[in-house]
Amino acid sequence: TRQSDLSDLRVLVTAGPTVEDIDPVRFVSNGSSGKMGYAIAEAAVSRGAKVTLVTGPSHLEPVAGAEMVRVRSTEQMKDAVLKRLSTVDAVIGAAAPVDFRPAERFDQKWKKSDGLPQIDWVQTPDILASVAKAKEARHVVVGFAAETRDVVLNAEKKLVSKDLDFVVGNQIGEEGVGFGTDTNRVIIVSKNGPDPLPLMSKLDVANEILSRVRIVFDGRLGT
Ligand code: C5P
Repeated sequence: TRQSDLSDLRVLVTAGPTVEDIDPVRFVSNGSSGKMGYAIAEAAVSRGAKVTLVTGPSHLEPVAGAEMVRVRSTEQMKDAVLKRLSTVDAVIGAAAPVDFRPAERFDQKWKKSDGLPQIDWVQTPDILASVAKAKEARHVVVGFAAETRDVVLNAEKKLVSKDLDFVVGNQIGEEGVGFGTDTNRVIIVSKNGPDPLPLMSKLDVANEILSRVRIVFDGRLGT
């Protein structure tokens, strides 16, 4: 049985979108609901893990039994994750952080009568790439790859560039898959190659991911 099979693990999950402000009323974000990350946190709690959920703005109910850390911007999410890295064993990056933000946030609301705003964009930090630089030998790190094409190829690239243990890839734009849905069809990509799973609930996907984290972690321990 899975009951309590993660009771020796401290798992940090990122979830939801991030938000980058343009002015006091406008922002850049994306359609991530947070459902996948929240499902992972929920499944990990029920399997006995100590769980921290670092979440961007989401309408979902807090996950009972998890430490909830609420952030807004990608920079804040990165800081929240790195600050806790030394106290966790696994990082699962299910968030969809915004990759660019306005170089400057206007202090006042930009008025239509002001004309079109000229906005310079700068890159936000890549959270999992920062984790890759700061992590220790015990850490198991999992990333996601939501793609409209070439899911396996893109997942393999992320596996290497972010030095991940495995990547959960999914084809977006397919029915019942991706942002906002309750189901997902994913391909888990590790150095052992692609492992396609059937369409299943996000909670079942979460449990599949956590079982693989357990296996990787046991390999680390040499058990
Ligand atoms: O490279 P890309 O952003 O598509 O990779 C997606 C994976 O990287 C996800 O696991 C996501 O949570 C993570 N990511 C991140 N920081 C970013 C952007 C994405 O950790 N700024």
